Amino acid sequence: MSKKLFNPIIPVEDDGLYIPEVGAWADEKYKLLGGYSDIFTTGMKNLWDSLIYIDLFAGAGFARIKGTSKIRMTSSLIALSTNHKFDKYILCEEDPKCFMALKSRVEKYFPEANVEFINGDSNRNIDQIIKAIPKHSRDEKILRFCFVDPFSLNLKFETIKKISSVGKIDFLILLALHMDANRNLFNYINDNSKKVDEFIGDVAWREPFKTGQLPAKDFIKFLSGKYDSNMKAIGYVEPIKKHQVKIGDINVPLYYLAFYSKHPRGNDFFQKVEKYLSSQQSLF
Ligand SMILES: C[S@@+](CC[C@H](N)C(=O)[O-])C[C@H]1O[C@@H](n2cnc3c(N)ncnc32)[C@H](O)[C@@H]1O
Repeated sequence: MSKKLFNPIIPVEDDGLYIPEVGAWADEKYKLLGGYSDIFTTGMKNLWDSLIYIDLFAGAGFARIKGTSKIRMTSSLIALSTNHKFDKYILCEEDPKCFMALKSRVEKYFPEANVEFINGDSNRNIDQIIKAIPKHSRDEKILRFCFVDPFSLNLKFETIKKISSVGKIDFLILLALHMDANRNLFNYINDNSKKVDEFIGDVAWREPFKTGQLPAKDFIKFLSGKYDSNMKAIGYVEPIKKHQVKIGDINVPLYYLAFYSKHPRGNDFFQKVEKYLSSQQSLF
């Protein structure tokens, strides 16, 4: 943990560019992402030649907390603000409004950072994203951290698998299981919907739900377990860490932030961040 406390909640003023709205629970996501980015860059800067940050669903850089006038920096700008910087940032965003706002903000607030922007669907742009990620060589040891923050299950497992093939890379993935999966099981069971098939890279998942072998109430547990076994199959270590985020005042589960590393040290870092944040909530 860095000596100087990094506070991932970074209040900002309206700068006239596009600002999307997020729920108040997004702060928990920013704390985990920022806490991990800070401990990762601090702990690894002397052990690796280059540290790389990849944001597949980057957003606009700022967000307003719904129902308030509070504006925050969001994922990519938080990762750009840590005590020690990543050596390269690859920021991907599909929505043109968010993309333009993100690019302008990065250029304004972090002009010195090494940033590559990729506009478009990250599932489709995968070859371009992989090309942008620096590769390990005899002269350069590279470690990467990829944040994956979709609104829904609109994330193909094939995308994660291809990115993981570049080498050493940790993932923090928002699994929108309660926001999306839970609400839409019956739509997804309809054979025409490919969303879950692509999310878990498996077309045979419907059968046990159709026959009643698995009850509908176990859908989230099933997807969550399947995701972990997919990650294990491509080299990610146990124990898998999943942080559940709930709507604070009514205690309803919303999503998981799942952390996957190919090295047990990544899991230790993540656990430290989780513990640290829960003991320091009042500081943020
Ligand atoms: C939940 S927001 C995440 C924003 C940001 N990471 C944050 O910290 O608040 C998801 C973002 O992904 C973008 N998006 C949605 N589908 C995408 C896709 N297939 N490829 C790239 N970006 C996408 C949306 O426009 C939106 O800005």
